[in-house]
Amino acid sequence: MNDGAIILLTDRPDQSRALEAVLKTVGHCEVVFDDRNFANSAKPIAIVSDLTLTRYESSRRLRALVSLDRKKRIPVICLMRSTSDGALRQARDLGATVCLPAFTAPNLIAQVIRDQVGAHDEDGDSVCAEGVARATEVLTNLFDGAREGSVALGVLEAGLIPILAAVREGGLTRWLDTVWTHDDATYQHCLLVAGVAAQFVTFLNFREEDRRHFVRAALLHDLGKARIPQAILNKPGRLDADEIAIIRTHPVIGYDILRGSGCDSLTLGAVRHHHEMLDGSGYPDGLAGSAISDTVRVLTICDIYAALTERRAYRDPMPARDALAVLDSMGTKLEGRLVQYFGRAMMAVR
Ligand SMILES: [Fe+2]
Ligand SMILES: [Fe+2]
Repeated sequence: MNDGAIILLTDRPDQSRALEAVLKTVGHCEVVFDDRNFANSAKPIAIVSDLTLTRYESSRRLRALVSLDRKKRIPVICLMRSTSDGALRQARDLGATVCLPAFTAPNLIAQVIRDQVGAHDEDGDSVCAEGVARATEVLTNLFDGAREGSVALGVLEAGLIPILAAVREGGLTRWLDTVWTHDDATYQHCLLVAGVAAQFVTFLNFREEDRRHFVRAALLHDLGKARIPQAILNKPGRLDADEIAIIRTHPVIGYDILRGSGCDSLTLGAVRHHHEMLDGSGYPDGLAGSAISDTVRVLTICDIYAALTERRAYRDPMPARDALAVLDSMGTKLEGRLVQYFGRAMMAVR
């Protein structure tokens, strides 16, 4: 079992003692029977509610504790004194992941916690590891092809669904934690953009086909960097004017590589134009306003956010809130409405 505490919320401490004793065989258990500040407590790994949820004070206490788990990862087991439809609905609304009758044997409750905590960690970790592994294979294949002259886009499709599944089932936080350990800066960046884009379009409730379109564009957007010297791509610190000029060739290089590969026109446009800005200040073509497609508008936001929050050996990543503030400060360069939605999507991550 992980480090951290099983929090047992109860409004009848005397009767919860048997349960507390069994939970202590699963892990560290803290019994809470009043309002308290959890700031200095061990991180919860599971919550067990032995409360009468029809009491306002009790439901408020559970809601407050569940809301501390912003990533929505931990199991919340509600022991129900009533199993009416209304009571079950209320428990689910409060965040219950499992509802059991209050008379359930403590040993069974302990087993449910073991299963839930273990399953949650293992499923999320394995789906993310699988997604990163598949996507890395795809990127390696594409970038190797781009260095040698041409790419075979057939391999790309195999990487899209594992990325979407990883972000949906494992959560973007876990995806980022996995991707941040990647030693190749360009691959790390493309995988970050792909994960962030997957989160954004899932949050926006796009159709599955459209979700794949955005993840495809995210994986391909910096393909032109395959032909930029590694010494420039991986240079710690600021680039000089010549190096910036070289880096800025990557959208057109990527476009030229993909043009003969059967790539669809929307994706091709995203590769060429992902550094264009709505006010016309971007590159390579200085496009502005309606000349910039929706795909590009979405991808550009994901790209900038990923660049700000990526991990490099020589600098700390920018916290999510600061990165969102940078996007906000870009004003008319980005579509304001999309930036607002993007902020909500990133704040909703688990
Ligand atoms: Fe780029
Ligand atoms: Fe990029």
